[in-house]
Amino acid sequence: MSLIGTLLGREETRSLTMDQPRPHSLLDQGTQGVIGRPLDRIEGPLKVSGQATYAAEYPTDNLAYGVLVRAPFGSGTIRDVVADAARSVPGVIDVVTDYLTFIRNPQQGGEMKAPTQGVEKVDYHGEIVAIVVADTFEAAREGAALVHVDAQPANGAYVFAAHRDQAETPPPDQIPPTTSQGDVDAAMAAAAVTVDATYTTPSQTSAAMEPHASIAHWQDDGTLVLHGSYQMVASDQSQLAGALGVAKDKVRIIARYVGGGFGSKLGIAPESVAAAVAAKKLGRPVKVAMARQQVFDATVRRSNTEQRIRLGAGPDGRLTAIAHETLATNLPGEDFFEPAGIGTHFAYGADNRLVDHKLVRMNWLLAGSMRAPGEAVGMLALEAAMDELAEKLDLDPIELRRRNEPDQDPEKQVPFSSRQLVPCMEKGAELFGWSDRHAAPASDRRGEWWHGIGMAAAVRSNMLQKSSARVELTPEGRAIVATDMTDIGTGSYTILAQIAAETLGLPLDRVEVQLGDGAAPPSAGSGGSWGAGSAGSSVYLACELLREKLAKAMDTAPESMTLKDGRAIADNRAVAIGELVGDGLSALGEIAPGKQEKSFNQASYGAHFAEVKVNAVTGEVRVERMLGVFAAGRILNQKTARSQCLGGMTFGIGAALTEELVHDPRNGKVVNRDLGEYHVPVNADVPQIDVHFLDERDIHANPIHAKGIGELGISGAGAAIANAIYNATGVRVRDYPITCDKLLEGLPG
Ligand code: MOS
Repeated sequence: MSLIGTLLGREETRSLTMDQPRPHSLLDQGTQGVIGRPLDRIEGPLKVSGQATYAAEYPTDNLAYGVLVRAPFGSGTIRDVVADAARSVPGVIDVVTDYLTFIRNPQQGGEMKAPTQGVEKVDYHGEIVAIVVADTFEAAREGAALVHVDAQPANGAYVFAAHRDQAETPPPDQIPPTTSQGDVDAAMAAAAVTVDATYTTPSQTSAAMEPHASIAHWQDDGTLVLHGSYQMVASDQSQLAGALGVAKDKVRIIARYVGGGFGSKLGIAPESVAAAVAAKKLGRPVKVAMARQQVFDATVRRSNTEQRIRLGAGPDGRLTAIAHETLATNLPGEDFFEPAGIGTHFAYGADNRLVDHKLVRMNWLLAGSMRAPGEAVGMLALEAAMDELAEKLDLDPIELRRRNEPDQDPEKQVPFSSRQLVPCMEKGAELFGWSDRHAAPASDRRGEWWHGIGMAAAVRSNMLQKSSARVELTPEGRAIVATDMTDIGTGSYTILAQIAAETLGLPLDRVEVQLGDGAAPPSAGSGGSWGAGSAGSSVYLACELLREKLAKAMDTAPESMTLKDGRAIADNRAVAIGELVGDGLSALGEIAPGKQEKSFNQASYGAHFAEVKVNAVTGEVRVERMLGVFAAGRILNQKTARSQCLGGMTFGIGAALTEELVHDPRNGKVVNRDLGEYHVPVNADVPQIDVHFLDERDIHANPIHAKGIGELGISGAGAAIANAIYNATGVRVRDYPITCDKLLEGLPG
């Protein structure tokens, strides 16, 4: 080992708690020139050539196959699970009903029951009650079809309208359900112009391409290794250990590639527990891949909402009152509520304010997080109401928003870390041709089609979560980044490689990123759009420490050293980085949120623009073009960030026009349980979408100055479409999705 290796061989940790702004960032030096560039995904070739191994694909010896059995009733008690016929199917090994306790998909802060004997009480149609395990998938599936669940049904809550009056205030968890200031009622009574409108949104499903799947394998030392499709490996390990009643360090989840999650894979789903329990009982590995219908009816949905928005304004358009009251639904005993008013806390100024959430208990599939929980559906209401107010005031919608731009967080009275809502709207107006819009609705008819243009603002809170990563420099002059962070299609592999390459002065192909293994340092995982900022900062901090060690090896100060193309350059010397690290050098980076998240309001902003045409005869809506302009701190990779926004905006098309999970009024069963019947936008529904980023750095967010982007693109996107439909036709549909039948009766002419 070289001298430097001897001196520095012990791995050290660079920790940072964001108590202070971090104005200096190595990423601004641009020495290697890879940060921000629209680079292709580094794992892309593996994915398109079928070599990226997803959860259900790990080659496993002696594998048994499990198929889940669901409760065929909506509420009640199981008297017996009759499995004789299933057991007699050739190849069926066992039907496991005991210790299959895993009833729900615990979200963060959700409920998880401790192991008990069997699932006795059933709260929703489709709840997992048993698993049939066989030597082949086909035998397991045949066996599962033969299991008879003998039930004592109970009355359930299956129809929202029948139970909405029994709404209750959920316990304050991470998000307080109610905040208020001033007197909204008095301000509404005194306001020159008001809007008081109720918007509804249906249950929705994430519809990730890869179904939830697990291969469970208990090792001889009593450790469970589970290949799964999950977003947050460290917390999922804790959940799984809790569900199984084993110590946390006895569960290792591996999720190297994840085919989309959108929140449905934040917490573990029933298949992981079922696979683990069956594997333990059988003494051999078990694979359970959920069928598409099971993903729809036994994982998680986004809650339906009923949202009442009240806006009061003076004749000048300045808001005096803003109230956003939401009814959401969830199962009995669950605390999670869709926080639809979350963006309303700070989107606009007004002295009198109310944001309130209540829960209605329904025997419908568990409600949990789906892309931008809160803003995604909340802004469908708020931003449509702002459009309604603009019309009443005879004010341009952008001008209305400009007049209500708060100079600080209007509730918490703290500054914004950065806020470019107005520049986003202005840039968007310019790029989209907003000035060509006819302010009066239904004034642009071309043949059979009404044309219209609409806009909406986007806001999405920014979060930082505790996260850690290891970065190792090898004698070959390569860097290896390791963290349990996941890449759910977002680009984590690529942006983490870019951060390491930029800070260590390495070409991108000399950086290897290892993700999704619970054996690596724990990260915040992929959720809440915090992944890039949190995991990225941990990688950055490890690299910052490595740079200091390299400088020491160069006998110079870090500021006096340049790292570029694999070499350290200082005092007219250039040395290959590999030569400076002896047998190798590694460092841990750790980021944690601190006072900056309290002393500043941190959020990302954007403006959506949409042009639609509506068929005057049939009410069919076609989205003609969309534009999103976003400001989200530093953009780490123009291509992956843009893809995130394209995806979010496409979700917005679905929310506005097509997506609706239908619950059978007799038993709560999800009726449209596949991609044929649940309508996500397909290619023909998605027009040219343009995405534009404003340059921004947020020194209060984290040391890489980037803010969340994965959920920003959906926030407000659907509202821009709804507002464009109104502009085209003069018909305001407040019940999403805006389908032809709802438009038809109001169409002019
Ligand atoms: Mo997100 S809904 O936190 O994956």
